[in-house]
Amino acid sequence: MSAQIIDGKAIAAETRAKIKQSIEQRLANGLRAPGLAVILIGESPASQVYVNNKKKACVEAGLVSKSFEMPGSTTETALLNLIKELNADQEIDGILVQLPLPKHIDADKVIETIDPNKDVDGFHPYNIGRLTLRAPTLRPCTPYGCIKLLEAAGETFKGRKATVVGSSNIVGRPMALELLLAGATPTICNRYTGDFREQIETADILVVALGRPDHIPGEWIKKGATVIDVGINRLDTGKLTGDVHFESAKERAAFITPVPGGVGPMTIAMLLQNTLNSAEARD
Ligand code: GUN
Repeated sequence: MSAQIIDGKAIAAETRAKIKQSIEQRLANGLRAPGLAVILIGESPASQVYVNNKKKACVEAGLVSKSFEMPGSTTETALLNLIKELNADQEIDGILVQLPLPKHIDADKVIETIDPNKDVDGFHPYNIGRLTLRAPTLRPCTPYGCIKLLEAAGETFKGRKATVVGSSNIVGRPMALELLLAGATPTICNRYTGDFREQIETADILVVALGRPDHIPGEWIKKGATVIDVGINRLDTGKLTGDVHFESAKERAAFITPVPGGVGPMTIAMLLQNTLNSAEARD
């Protein structure tokens, strides 16, 4: 058996095309284009690539993107003041602060200063709380994108065992909440999970966000499972690879996402979706 590939690039392109149409309709109705502020502190090359991809996608879909690229020495106070200004800016619907932040800045404080209605990353405790309480508002982009990919693969969720490997605030935790909301039975594995092979072998849905190249061997995957690989690892050869060993996993899974071209493009599409939703809520 060879798995069907879940084409995140194509699904994200469809989502972005729909967003573009909605924005054209807004403009035709005399409404303004949604505005996204993207803040990058420091010079991390990886973060610069992510931020540039986000800005490019905004422009292509017809959103207005305002960019704030500040040195690594920026103080926490200066960043909090910028966020407060953007909270009050009527033309800004979304505020994204690229993570990780330099160590002298308290990321929790930064996230909690963003107006929850403009928190298009979905990281604010209000938005996480809403997701926990089954009344989602702005939803974390990567987990929300993974749900869209699972839906595209025909996933039914209810009564299905889901294993999430990785327990970060950005992916693992909100992913488990999304799966719970959809009716699946999630388990989250963290660094203290002794034998996560057992959790993986029994999973109908497997989501891996570990950050270790090709770490999960195909033999661990339940036959017929759906595998979502959130990892994006660059090898010394320059090649990008996921957290799951793709070649062996695709011989057991029924559906699997590739890296690149799986989850990555969906994260950006959901960011645009959140910004559009936020603008619509503000009309
Ligand atoms: N760093 C890695 N992933 C993300 C993300 O989804 N949003 C932000 N703001 N920073 C990130």
